[in-house]
Amino acid sequence: MQRFTFFSTSPEGTEALGRRLGAILSPPALLLLNGDLGAGKTCFVRGLARGLDVAADEPVTSPTYALMHHYQGRHDLYHFDLYRLAGWGDLHEIGFDEYVESDKIVVVEWAERAAGAGLEGLEISFSLQEENSRSIEVSATSAKDIALLQRLAVET
Ligand SMILES: Nc1ncnc2c1ncn2[C@@H]1O[C@H](COP(=O)(O)OP(=O)(O)OP(=O)(O)O)[C@@H](O)[C@H]1O
Ligand SMILES: [Mg+2]
Repeated sequence: MQRFTFFSTSPEGTEALGRRLGAILSPPALLLLNGDLGAGKTCFVRGLARGLDVAADEPVTSPTYALMHHYQGRHDLYHFDLYRLAGWGDLHEIGFDEYVESDKIVVVEWAERAAGAGLEGLEISFSLQEENSRSIEVSATSAKDIALLQRLAVET
């Protein structure tokens, strides 16, 4: 396992980190986002989408009620938010298991809400520091994720 903590002092900084990851991402990929409310998870996913060449005028917002948003880019991105997850029934209905086991690029906000699912992916944990500053800790386990993290970290 490898870990690296990034710091962001603005929404633009958080989005830029997401964009850099999106630019080097290839399927299959599973990104598991956790952390404080309002710490920047959706902001990061917006950058991720831009890094995957999702059109700049396509809004990237929290799929809290829809549970999933799909964006078309250089590679497609499937964006889940489990914050309001009412039960496993919801997830089965939208085929969550199939997405996370697929060869797609999947990003999950509030992934810890599906802790029982034994998801294995690149873990990205957001914490509020003070005012606009956030820490973003990335933990990689698989060889592919470790290589991604190393590329992301060197360019910092
Ligand atoms: N360094 C920063 N990085 C990201 N967002 C920041 C930062 N500083 C301030 N913000 C503000 O914090 C908010 C982050 O909201 P965002 O929706 O991305 O958080 P979230 O983690 O997805 O929240 P939720 O848990 O509700 O899904 C935005 O309004 C953004 O402008
Ligand atoms: Mg969010």
